[in-house]
Amino acid sequence: MDTPEPKHDHAQLEFPQGFLWGAATSSYQVEGNNMYSDWWQWEVNHQPFDLRSGQACDQYNRYAEDFALAKDLNHNAHRLSLEWARIEPEEDQFNQNEIDHYKQVLKSLKDQGFTVMLTLHHFTNPAWFAKKGGWESFGAPKRFERFVKKVVPELKDYVDLWITINEPGVLMFQGYLIGVWPPQKKSFPTGIRVYWNLARAHKKAYKAIHQLVPNAKVGIANNVSSFDAFHHHSLREEIGVWALDIINNHLFYQMTGIQTHDFLGLNYYFNQYLSFNTHSRFPSFVDIATTKKDTSDLGWEVYPEGIFDVLMDFSDYHKPIYITENGLASTNDDRRVRFLISYLKEIYHAIQTGADVRGYFHWSLIDNFEWADGFVPRFGLVEVDFATQKRTPRPSSKVYAEIIKHNGIEHKLLKLLGHGIDVEAELKDIMKKDH
Ligand code: FCB
Repeated sequence: MDTPEPKHDHAQLEFPQGFLWGAATSSYQVEGNNMYSDWWQWEVNHQPFDLRSGQACDQYNRYAEDFALAKDLNHNAHRLSLEWARIEPEEDQFNQNEIDHYKQVLKSLKDQGFTVMLTLHHFTNPAWFAKKGGWESFGAPKRFERFVKKVVPELKDYVDLWITINEPGVLMFQGYLIGVWPPQKKSFPTGIRVYWNLARAHKKAYKAIHQLVPNAKVGIANNVSSFDAFHHHSLREEIGVWALDIINNHLFYQMTGIQTHDFLGLNYYFNQYLSFNTHSRFPSFVDIATTKKDTSDLGWEVYPEGIFDVLMDFSDYHKPIYITENGLASTNDDRRVRFLISYLKEIYHAIQTGADVRGYFHWSLIDNFEWADGFVPRFGLVEVDFATQKRTPRPSSKVYAEIIKHNGIEHKLLKLLGHGIDVEAELKDIMKKDH
């Protein structure tokens, strides 16, 4: 007797109707010339490398071109951020021209039918704010709230989803615990204070936005990792994994109260294995390089199953979820094609299993300034030649466009998960059959 084929084997992996498909960027990484920001000051004065964001992608001037590209690539949503320092270059002095500029930017997205997700704070601060103690200062949340109360009434007609703060945990970790980003501090108590102030800032911003826009949808973009015990028989590793999940992934919601999050924005990049080896009393993360597993150009493990794991973990909150960032640093675009399909496939499975995922924002639309790593890591669906500012869509952008067009992953696209195939030729073939 023939064994029947599993019925989903050749079916399209269908996403929910109205799913948001887009890409994410942040102002400092793409706009260029953000000279009133603390990062700019740091580039000029402190940091040890020869690193300058300079004109970045010049998106301050080229936003229309970039949004047209996103439109051509079928995106129906876009995530971007405001540069606080442009809008408030001196304390309590707001620059109306810059507010009007952002109004234009957001309006041009809305005019083309995009759903707009706007981040109010994405790592960078005005230089004056940093001088006053930055996020260490008890007054920081109020300063942020004043900015929020100024911009929200001006921009509210063009925004669908608000992100108050991008990755509070990463901001705290990089700037105040390991000290590789401004203000380059290495102090646990300071880190705790900063995290606490960021939580206070989120709560104030949440309240302010809701007072100004009663039916607003407000959340944060939280950098979440999947964790696993290296030795499952080891109870202390399992307990370590539990603690890491609480501290890294859930703590901010506990500090702010889940009722101040209308949705969960998740940025997923990292999988970590925790190990207690016999020579040390302390746990450590397994160095993925020793495993020779697939990693990005930044050495971050490619682990699609991890996004399924975090989605299941977060589905317990019973809130709408958006993947607010997920992407790969790679100069080899075939790898980005595999990355995209395999992570989206896991998101599909998470949705089937009950996670209420409403959208996916790939990091990033275009190559950009990757903080302390400069312009080397290439995260873009679209390549940028930083000397000429020429944009060239990579094949991965077309694979994504194809997925968006069908609101899901057609079975034939799964072929592109293979290695050593000519992606462009296969893609052409797939698109030809499509018409
Ligand atoms: C995230 C940041 C984003 C970008 C990506 C690669 O942590 O939010 O700005 O740098 O990583």
